[in-house]
Amino acid sequence: RRTAQEALERLTVDVPDWPQEGVTFKDITPVLADHHAFSAIITALAAAGRDDHGNVVVDKVVGMEARGFILAAPVALALGIGFVPIRKAGKLPRETHAVSYALEYGEATLEVHRDAIDAGDRVLMVDDVLATGGTVAATQELIEACGGTATGVAVLMELGFLDPRSRTGDLPVSTLLTI
Ligand code: PRP
Ligand code: MG
Repeated sequence: RRTAQEALERLTVDVPDWPQEGVTFKDITPVLADHHAFSAIITALAAAGRDDHGNVVVDKVVGMEARGFILAAPVALALGIGFVPIRKAGKLPRETHAVSYALEYGEATLEVHRDAIDAGDRVLMVDDVLATGGTVAATQELIEACGGTATGVAVLMELGFLDPRSRTGDLPVSTLLTI
């Protein structure tokens, strides 16, 4: 976990004023490009799906399009369980549940295939950044619409100054770095 945090701090590049003035973008692509760093962050994220003895305690891992996919799929493989994509509106071909949520400007909709999560499934959410918490809160609603339970969310970074936990409530959050 410490190796993962060190790698994340060392390799993440701060891009000032992107995508708009006043915002500093956290570019994690150099972390992904480094095999040891990528491997360490996946192992650290996957720990959120295990108990203190190392036993896997979740049934599915969901990743939120697009950056969440990059992290959630290898976490699912590391835990030996299935991966479920949470997609932006209009991308999934079969019956879905959909949840819309407010963005800073406008609205976004996320969808999941209705049969991707079974009733009673315990589901771990994985994404790169927890900012306002809107993406996670909407994803939790989708998991619950399928009859599953969200056990928590694992992210690389939490932007504490945006107060995401006011949106995610008592959901357990596992984060490698708080900014
Ligand atoms: C970013 C990031 C998280 C989300 C966090 O995704 O990857 O998914 O924002 O923000 P929130 O906590 O305020 O919801 P974005 O929707 O920009 O798109 P991408 O993953 O497709 O790049
Ligand atoms: Mg995203």
